[in-house]
Formats: sequence, structure tokens, C-alpha cells
Amino acid sequence: MVDRWVQDHQRDAWRKQAKSSGYRARSAFKLKQIQDRHKLVKSGDSILDVGCHPGGWTQVAVELVGDSGKVVGIDLQPCIPVDGADLIVGDITDPLIQEAVLNVIDTEVIDVVISDISPNITGKWDIDQAVSLMLVADVFDFALPILKYGGHFVTKLFQGAGVEELIELVRPHFQTVKRFSPMASRNSSSEVYLVCKFHTPKRGPDWEIRPAFEHALENRQGGPEPLEDVKPAKSSFTIIRKETSKD
Ligand SMILES: C[S@@+](CC[C@H](N)C(=O)[O-])C[C@H]1O[C@@H](n2cnc3c(N)ncnc32)[C@H](O)[C@@H]1O
Repeated sequence: MVDRWVQDHQRDAWRKQAKSSGYRARSAFKLKQIQDRHKLVKSGDSILDVGCHPGGWTQVAVELVGDSGKVVGIDLQPCIPVDGADLIVGDITDPLIQEAVLNVIDTEVIDVVISDISPNITGKWDIDQAVSLMLVADVFDFALPILKYGGHFVTKLFQGAGVEELIELVRPHFQTVKRFSPMASRNSSSEVYLVCKFHTPKRGPDWEIRPAFEHALENRQGGPEPLEDVKPAKSSFTIIRKETSKD
């Protein structure tokens, strides 16, 4: 009860600070704290902001890259315009939208991908967490081919089943891959940020992350489902249950 009160109080404090600083969301402070610690963005960079609504990260990204930089944001929901950024409405996993994003980026490669993407929350934790990891895998597959050599990538993750598998698949594509929990999100459930630095395109495997991730999850659950018309082999094992006393 006390924990809950402290969490709500801290969240309110970040919200108030965001309002008084002119940011649209308290999430702006998460990116600021990620940047303070990991120095991902520099002046003049080109940035792809995935899941940008309502625009808090976009505002911070525009400040960080300055007039000579470029920020392109994409979200399912339309944002109120942010000065200095190009914002696209659509689904990042849709090939047509991906093409539109590439057209707007208009540079050969981008310097940094910042992704705060999270799916619509159904309230069923296992499903939300699994959908969120699949989305993150899709974002990697779209953005890795356009991320420059030495570029950086930060994405939100929800801790839980499959996180280790996803991290292991991403690791070969970067020099360092670390989890980071900014102060501004320490009170929000199991959210954590994966900070991937120094893209190494030549070292990374050339298969896509999403199918490899699905495969890894199948293996984790003991392999793919057996085919329906295949009869299970007879087992010579007998299960002997331990007697338990009833009182
Ligand atoms: C936590 S919010 C992002 C907050 C934002 N970084 C900010 O600071 O204002 C997550 C966003 O991911 C977006 N999203 C979820 N699935 C998406 C998809 N397939 N394509 C694009 N955006 C998506 C949601 O619409 C939502 O606005």
C-alpha cells in the first residue's frame, strides 16, 4: 500500500516536472536520463523515433540533434507537430509505412534509433509482454539495415519470458548491449531499456531477428507443437506419485 503510494507520488512528480519544462510526457525524462548516462545522440545526428506519440522523446531528440540534425518519428497515433521533426502516422511493421519512413528519412543511413514502442495494453500481462517483444524484434529487423556502422539503438522492453533470448539474438549486431533503468521509469512495473551501442553490421548474422526469435521461443517451450496425425511414441515410463499426508 505504502509502495503504491510512493510510486504514484513519484509518477506525479515527473508529470509535473514534464509540464513545467514544456515536455508533452514524463517519458521525456527517461530519454534524457538514458542520454546522460549513455551519450547516444550528438549534434547533427539523424534519428528514427519509433512509437513517438505524444512526442516527448521527439522533443528531446530535436533538442539533442540541433538545427543540423534530423528527427523522424513514427506512431500509430497522430501527434501534434513537433518543430524540427517529421512525423509519420502508421504501423512500423507495415511494409508500405516502412517505405514512407525510408522516403522521409532521406539519408543513406541513420545514426541512432530510439524506440519507446509498446503495444496496446490488454491487461493480460503474459500476452502484452510477448506482443511487446515481437514488436521490438520487428523494429530491429526494419531498422538494423539502415543503421550506420557504429550507430546506436535504444528500445524499451518489458522484462519477462523471452527477454534473454531476444538479447542474445541482438548482441552480435553491436559492440555492447546493456539493460538500463532510468530513474524516471524505476517505478513503472517491469519496464527496462536495452541500450545497444556501436552497430557492427559486418559481424552480425544476416538472418532476421523476428523469425530467429520465434524459433528460440519454440525451443524454449520444448520445440514446435507435434503434428496432429503423428501418434505419440509409447513410453515405457510409469509415473509414481509421491504419497502426501492429508493433514
Ligand atoms: C509509451 S508510448 C511512446 C511515448 C513517447 N516515446 C513519448 O515520449 O511521447 C508507446 C507508443 O508506441 C506506439 N505503437 C505501438 N505499436 C506500434 C506500431 N506497430 N507502430 C507504430 N507505433 C506503435 C503506440 O501507439 C504508443 O503511442
